[in-house]
Amino acid sequence: MSLRHFLTLSDLTKQELENLIKRASELRKMQHAGEIYQPFVGRTLGMIFEKSSTRTRISFETGMGQFGGNAIFLSPNDTQLGRGEPLEDSARVISSMVDIIMIRTFGHEKVETFAEYSSVPIINALTDEYHPCQLLADMQTYYEHRGSIENKIVTWVGDGNNMCSSFMQAANQFGFELRVAAPYGFEPDPKLMERFSHCVSLVENVQDAAKDSNLIVTDVWASMGQESEQNTRARRFAPYQVTPSLLDKADPEVVFMHCLPAHRGEEISHDMLNDPRSVVWDEAENRLHAQKALMEFLLKDKIKLPA
Ligand code: CP
Ligand code: NVA
Repeated sequence: MSLRHFLTLSDLTKQELENLIKRASELRKMQHAGEIYQPFVGRTLGMIFEKSSTRTRISFETGMGQFGGNAIFLSPNDTQLGRGEPLEDSARVISSMVDIIMIRTFGHEKVETFAEYSSVPIINALTDEYHPCQLLADMQTYYEHRGSIENKIVTWVGDGNNMCSSFMQAANQFGFELRVAAPYGFEPDPKLMERFSHCVSLVENVQDAAKDSNLIVTDVWASMGQESEQNTRARRFAPYQVTPSLLDKADPEVVFMHCLPAHRGEEISHDMLNDPRSVVWDEAENRLHAQKALMEFLLKDKIKLPA
């Protein structure tokens, strides 16, 4: 099989994504049952982090450990990446030693360059433009709580950021309708809006956007790298706080998701995560199972899968 990367959700077909979500649920059950499954003995994951992380780092590192392999944490502070070694050279060298690499960085073009020069699969673990790994966990979580998301309504509330762009791609791949309620000036990338106009729309009023929705999602107002805009954004986003009463406008079976970290009193009210419709803790845990399913998929030619 030719080399596969996971830079955005569009790198996998609809069928591959659906299979991956189901496999992540199986891996969750196996993990909960205490089953030992180690298809990656002798394999190594390189983890390049140019931004902070809790969930992504722990899920990849723990997942690799549970699979019997090793993970190496590589930060620009401690590698030559931070001292200007070209990405192309780093990609060639690192990929000559490890079996798979995940990268969290700023510009999306950096993961694209890395993938171009890498001899092993590259996973986008968040760029300024996309966060596809989070969407795997989110789709898995919806499937586990409510079944298929096809033909459902999903409402994105807040910044048209990296998470929102990945939700737009997910709407196309998983076949749901996405409504985006974002303040003026913080709407999603217009090119993506155009490309996904068959399944994504802007809805100005957040209450209207929530009506009959099956899934409501939000995210931090100022993403990593935008810290200096925090105060301006806080003023502009204030009407977009997600609360239990917003969820009351939605379908009775609605669930609430947030990729975390969450900021109570900002994008969500203090009581939002305690609401029974919130599934954020399962969503966070599913990062582990979804990451394992993704690595298994990308390395499937190198490992012996169970019969
Ligand atoms: N949701 C998410 O990616 O969390 P971290 O930034 O903690 O990895
Ligand atoms: N949009 C957020 C997601 C964090 C997981 C950020 O990029 O900081």
